[in-house]
Amino acid sequence: MLETRDLTIRFGGHVAVNAVSCTFAPGTLTAIVGPNGAGKTTYFNLISGQLKPSAGDVLLNGHSISALTASARTHAGLGRAFQLTSLFPNLSVMENVRLALQSRQRVGLDMWNVWNHHRALIERAEQLLDSVALLAKRDVKAAALPHGDQRKLEVGLLMALDPEVYMFDEPTAGMSVDEVPVILDLIRALKARRDKTILLVEHKMDVVRELADRIIVLHNGTLMADGDPESVISSPVVQQAYLGLAPVEEAA
Ligand SMILES: Nc1ncnc2c1ncn2[C@@H]1O[C@H](COP(=O)(O)OP(=O)(O)OP(=O)(O)O)[C@@H](O)[C@H]1O
Ligand SMILES: [Mg+2]
Repeated sequence: MLETRDLTIRFGGHVAVNAVSCTFAPGTLTAIVGPNGAGKTTYFNLISGQLKPSAGDVLLNGHSISALTASARTHAGLGRAFQLTSLFPNLSVMENVRLALQSRQRVGLDMWNVWNHHRALIERAEQLLDSVALLAKRDVKAAALPHGDQRKLEVGLLMALDPEVYMFDEPTAGMSVDEVPVILDLIRALKARRDKTILLVEHKMDVVRELADRIIVLHNGTLMADGDPESVISSPVVQQAYLGLAPVEEAA
């Protein structure tokens, strides 16, 4: 269970995330929507530890993780796909995935175990690469991949880490039409496991409608709506503020 309590950050006079209190339960996919500049990425940065809050707290399974660095939060079970920064550019696609897998495993001491472990590792890496449609490019250097493939590899690395909480910030942005389903299928499969907490920032409302168990709306850093997809999407305040539809007469 991930929770934010009154999570707030100010940049100068601008409150980018304003006292957001929210809990995210295992087995649910929560979509975070809101207009550009609403504070969605900043909220993720506060949760994953890239930014320090001005006020408020982040809790994982009931314990505050606010004092932990970003990498300590990753070890604690928070996973986030980072654009390019988590890739080793000069290593191959396969080597990147193997390193990610090894980072969360301990190799036994006797040689037979090491050998079995190695085989299992390669098999698991191949499975992961297959799931992100990169098996054919296993020997290509990460740096030499086209943008869409690099983004698929980031998701593959995140899957290799297999965190408790998966955070996706516009995972299909900049991808070609044939790459988008690869990522959506993965998120769908992750959701079907019913044990992971998934947070998804996504602008495409058809994707949100299909995948989300719940939608929260951020607007000017404030949590403006929270509920099941149909009621949130149809609420006047969301139609007006986010979907850019005609202003609602009775809105104060
Ligand atoms: N490091 C920073 N310093 C100053 N202002 C920042 C910083 N990071 C974000 N902001 C501001 O905080 C606000 C929220 O930005 P954020 O990137 O979180 O929005 P977003 O909801 O992710 O938007 P988008 O949908 O375009 O990705 C913006 O006004 C942005 O300019
Ligand atoms: Mg953003």
